Amino acid sequence: MSTATQPAYKIVHHEYDVVVVGAGGAGLRATVGLAQSGLKTANITKVFPTRSHTVAAQGGISAALGNMGADDWRWHMYDTIKGSDWLGDQDAIQYMVREALPAIIELEHWGVPFSRTPEGKIYQRPFGGMTTNFGGPPAQRTCAAADRTGHAMLHTMYQQALKARAEFFIEYFALDLLTDADGSIHGVLALDQSTGELHRFRAHQVILATGGYGRAYFSATSAHTCTGDGGGMAIRAGIPLQDMEFVQFHPTGIYGSGCLITEGSRGEGGYLTNSNGERFMERYAPNAKDLASRDVVSRSMTIEIREGRGVGPEKDHIHLNLQHLGPEVLHKRLPGISETAKIFANVDVTKEPIPVLPTVHYNMGGIPCNFHGEVVTCTDGKTDTVIPGLMAVGEAACVSVHGANRLGSNSLLDLVVFGRAAGLRCADTLKAGQKHKTLPKESEEKALARLDHLRYAKGATPTSKIRLAMQKTMQQHAAVFRTTKSLDEGMVKLKDDIKLFDDVHVSDHSLVWNSDLIETLELDNLLGQALLTMAGAQNRKESRGAHAHEDFPERDDQHWMKHTLAWRTADTEVKIDYRPVHLYTLDTDADVVPPKKRTY
Ligand code: FUM
Repeated sequence: MSTATQPAYKIVHHEYDVVVVGAGGAGLRATVGLAQSGLKTANITKVFPTRSHTVAAQGGISAALGNMGADDWRWHMYDTIKGSDWLGDQDAIQYMVREALPAIIELEHWGVPFSRTPEGKIYQRPFGGMTTNFGGPPAQRTCAAADRTGHAMLHTMYQQALKARAEFFIEYFALDLLTDADGSIHGVLALDQSTGELHRFRAHQVILATGGYGRAYFSATSAHTCTGDGGGMAIRAGIPLQDMEFVQFHPTGIYGSGCLITEGSRGEGGYLTNSNGERFMERYAPNAKDLASRDVVSRSMTIEIREGRGVGPEKDHIHLNLQHLGPEVLHKRLPGISETAKIFANVDVTKEPIPVLPTVHYNMGGIPCNFHGEVVTCTDGKTDTVIPGLMAVGEAACVSVHGANRLGSNSLLDLVVFGRAAGLRCADTLKAGQKHKTLPKESEEKALARLDHLRYAKGATPTSKIRLAMQKTMQQHAAVFRTTKSLDEGMVKLKDDIKLFDDVHVSDHSLVWNSDLIETLELDNLLGQALLTMAGAQNRKESRGAHAHEDFPERDDQHWMKHTLAWRTADTEVKIDYRPVHLYTLDTDADVVPPKKRTY
């Protein structure tokens, strides 16, 4: 590490009412609402907006529209609570599923090219865990634009944001939050990758919409850009992250590459088979079968492989069969995955099954928020307190509407509902053009010191080597199934990976298009979140949703129906606390769903 004094930075100064970091579905939806409400809004994004990872969302967005049979948002609420394994906050879930209906109509009016029924209504397909009548027959609730729903939504929302005259700072990398001595947030420091200039964005609210941290794992459906930069900034600002132990494995990532094959393919009638050609999901989930929730399907596949019934020369994966659907359905409803399967598995889906494996897909955990998008923490185990100036939306946030396991197609819904909610909250609480207070120098100095430290890092270990070590540790030790031994060993290895970061080598100290530096900053963000994930998993002595602990195979509501809050207190040190699950609804429109055993 260089100790020489580095030249002072020249910083470009901006003042906005609100700054949104991230231009995926949640960030764009928030940006549209803010700009429409007259607040001066900047959106800072490290990739071009329509390249954000929402573009990869395939199967659809849930809403109880009832276009393809009877439906009710209360049934959707029940399914989401059950899917969450009773860790979701029921007030927030009620808010999300009720708001789903106007949210979809709004998207339709904005121009999202949804697939259509013969009568011209929005087409809806079945998805895992979505039922009618509180656990009855499957619901067709997931609104789809073929299997490119995220792509369609992202492009539409970007156009709306431009129309509303939001300002975009594209390919700017957010480095750190600007904090005051009392912990309140007042802006963000960012690097313009194209010029190497630093920019200080002052704002009365910063909204983190930076997505998940899937790339903490070796095999993920997430893009390489999914490095949880907002979570990393929150950790450094002393904010705890919530429920990080709950990492979703999507049942059908392509074996080898990890590319997503949408759950919509099972919604359209696809099914999984083992080496005996058996439709094994009938044994694990007699009612829902291949459309059980993702945690259940991923565990069942893993058991089949462990017990020697995997397919392929090494019996280490499973087959997804779509051949019987016929070329017409595949072409009309699943064109994207037909192409993906050809490119990444050399499979013609009309003739042969796709080799698949559970693959990291989604982080249920994240920055703790209420359903207005405000970041909350809880230091007495009882009362939530809002952190002034900071909001989070989308996968970066933990509202918590997904609890211990998210249902497929509730993610795109979460993005638009809470993106909108955050915009509404800002419009309610802020007045356009208010003056910004003077911040202490330290608020920026820490961020600059970190940048300097990494930019001139001249250790002996390349970033890529540390990242690979972390990814392998997470993949092996915080997997579909966990044990006390696997987690304890994983924590030891992860701490070694983190210590290795002290010896990181960044080859070039330029600030212009320096991918080595950016990947190092991203790795710093990933390491913090990997640490909190492992720590949360180590501490939770039960099985719930995506946290399947083989030494504690049952859900234990008496001791563990609570959210984990985890603070990174030093490089490899974590403090854990808990806050209660909201077992109440917003109003009398919906009843609390009392906990019960979860079967599909
Ligand atoms: O399978 C999928 O299309 C993914 C959807 C989701 O994660 O919500």
